[in-house]
Amino acid sequence: MPRPKLSVIGLGYLGATHAICMADLGYDVVGVDIDAARIDALTNGTLPFFEPGLDELLGKVLPTGRLRFTTSYDEIADADVHFLCVGTPQRKGEYAADTSQIDAAVGSLATHVRRSCTLVGKSTVPVGTAERIAEHFATQDVELVWNPEFLREGWAIEDTLHPDRLVFGVASPRGEAAMREVFAPIIDSGVPVVVTDIATAQLVKVAANAFLATKISFINAMAEVCEVVHADVKKLSEALSYDERIGGRFLHAGLGFGGGCLPKDIRAFMARAGELGVDQALTFLTEVDAINQRRRARMVDLTRELLADSLSGRRIGILGAAFKPHSDDIRDSPALDVASRLHRAGAHVTVYDPAALANARRDYPALAYAESAVEAATGADAVLHLTEWPEFRQMEPAVLGDVVRRRNVVDGRNALDPERWRAAGWHYRALGRP
Ligand code: UDX
Repeated sequence: MPRPKLSVIGLGYLGATHAICMADLGYDVVGVDIDAARIDALTNGTLPFFEPGLDELLGKVLPTGRLRFTTSYDEIADADVHFLCVGTPQRKGEYAADTSQIDAAVGSLATHVRRSCTLVGKSTVPVGTAERIAEHFATQDVELVWNPEFLREGWAIEDTLHPDRLVFGVASPRGEAAMREVFAPIIDSGVPVVVTDIATAQLVKVAANAFLATKISFINAMAEVCEVVHADVKKLSEALSYDERIGGRFLHAGLGFGGGCLPKDIRAFMARAGELGVDQALTFLTEVDAINQRRRARMVDLTRELLADSLSGRRIGILGAAFKPHSDDIRDSPALDVASRLHRAGAHVTVYDPAALANARRDYPALAYAESAVEAATGADAVLHLTEWPEFRQMEPAVLGDVVRRRNVVDGRNALDPERWRAAGWHYRALGRP
């Protein structure tokens, strides 16, 4: 049987990764996006974002001819399976998700589809969106299924080709059969499949992200308590982690979560719960969000305390700009939020990041930037470790010690070794630790 022809609609993080990985599995894939510059870049083998290994994979599949990119929906009209991967950012000034890209993409697809096919929703959406999408195809033979995506930045290929699980939200046996066919190479490698109705499948993604955010904020709330009783949240977290019911992953206390998913997904989930009349079920997420924001404020306060209660005119070297290591993504980055708050309080802030400098310069032009950790720390009254890149963990404290004005370091990620830094003459402080 010939393999199904695929289209991927929306070539952001999710869509570009999915298109490249499916072509690597041997499928013919056409990716469509309204951004012509993005299409040109991808066609020429350039990724519009940083993701370890993905540019090599793009370079490997492009010459096979199995992967093409276009701005024209005409070119995807004959695909058997369409993957919907457009973005659903937070609406300006509101908690709710902006689903205008979904509406535009589905509207375009509806005017071009001329044959029976499957439409697979992968975007993270407010529950109920799929049901609204289905109305666009009332007179066409389009089978709608929902297949949430759990990919982490920095692990995008691994999470796409070897996910923990596949979730298929279907309305009929035909939808399930189409999904089992298109994901056969992944299912055959032993990945578990959970088949649900379409509403449940839409909920799985936001429920997973709400749980992860809650776990991080839980341990950061414990850090707040540790700070007043001079206890050590890192030891607390280690001791909790041996309880298999709790587990140690996503239990690292520090500056908290950011990025393009966790913050906006919990807010959109609360907004949707409100519309559905079950807002009480999710009011705890308001607290999860508030704890997360308080860590950023605490980081600024801790720095101020360290500098004799004054930030004005102080030089601060910041290590990290990306919202997490192995990414150049600065969306809702805790590191840049703290850097901006310090800048607004009158400090001279110089930021270094191994991958996110270009993005940070573009979105935070008021901050100063350096090309290395040593350059960022030169002349500093305090050094702040805000994104836990391996190069910062492995750094020799004595080397930075030679260039700073004062050996003050604040570890916002609880990832540096306090013994090593103290041995090199540093005054080491961290969130949630004595
Ligand atoms: C997340 C989800 O993990 C993924 O399943 C979903 O599809 C998209 O959102 P991502 O945004 O790439 O992925 O980031 P993730 O690795 O989950 O980290 C989120 C944030 O939490 C980062 O800012 C990270 O620094 C922070 N974090 C993570 C902590 O502060 N403590 C932890 O223990 C773990």
